[in-house]
Amino acid sequence: MLAGNWKMHKTIAEGKQFINEFLPLVTNETTKDIVLCPTFTSLHVLSNELKGTNVELGAQNVFWEEKGAYTGEISPVMLKDVGCNWVIIGHSERRTVLAENDLTINRKLKAALDTELIPIFCVGETLQERENNRALEVVKEQLTNGLKDLDIKQNGIVIAYEPVWAIGTGINASCTDAQEMIGYIREYLGKIFNEDFAKTIRILYGGSVKPENIAEFMNKEDIDGALVGGASLTPDTFADIVRFDKNV
Ligand code: PGA
Repeated sequence: MLAGNWKMHKTIAEGKQFINEFLPLVTNETTKDIVLCPTFTSLHVLSNELKGTNVELGAQNVFWEEKGAYTGEISPVMLKDVGCNWVIIGHSERRTVLAENDLTINRKLKAALDTELIPIFCVGETLQERENNRALEVVKEQLTNGLKDLDIKQNGIVIAYEPVWAIGTGINASCTDAQEMIGYIREYLGKIFNEDFAKTIRILYGGSVKPENIAEFMNKEDIDGALVGGASLTPDTFADIVRFDKNV
């Protein structure tokens, strides 16, 4: 699975232009889940552009209530309505800049699952936490609290391990470190749910993924894909990432 997180980039016209250039480059990539997560304002138009293609639509955030007096928020039902199958939840930028916490993230995950949106649930440690040897502990806590009381089995969930220090910095985690953490996450999911189920959960790596390093990550046993920020903004570059197995 290769997912592009556009963050707060691209107008509707820019998004359309991206899609026109990107789709022909990936039309043969039918065995992979390819997901684009544009801004809310582009979802409707881009949903129409992507209809009938092998590229799916995701959102970058969601609120946990279905409707009501929640100025500025967007509900899971609204995301389904506009054609999203996926939603990124708990991205580190939302945790740090927008003050999201494990409790709100847990509510969002539950609401998404109840609406049959597949969450891409992000976890990851800061540089300081890694340097203090707390990376495993921090990620374990994010998983424990985020997944609390969730019935995942019904629809599925994707986990994205994104070390905060690797996001947007150009400094990716080594594939050995990423595999170590993702292997640990899978083992821990086995404890929370059960081992067989944990084997089927897709776990992505995110943080400065580019065409030059994607294949190394994908070769690792437990890494099932990537969540890509900066390198998903250019059609050629993101297509090279999606076609990582054609470039080696
Ligand atoms: P990046 O961002 O690829 O620009 O490091 C990844 C992410 O934030 O999902």
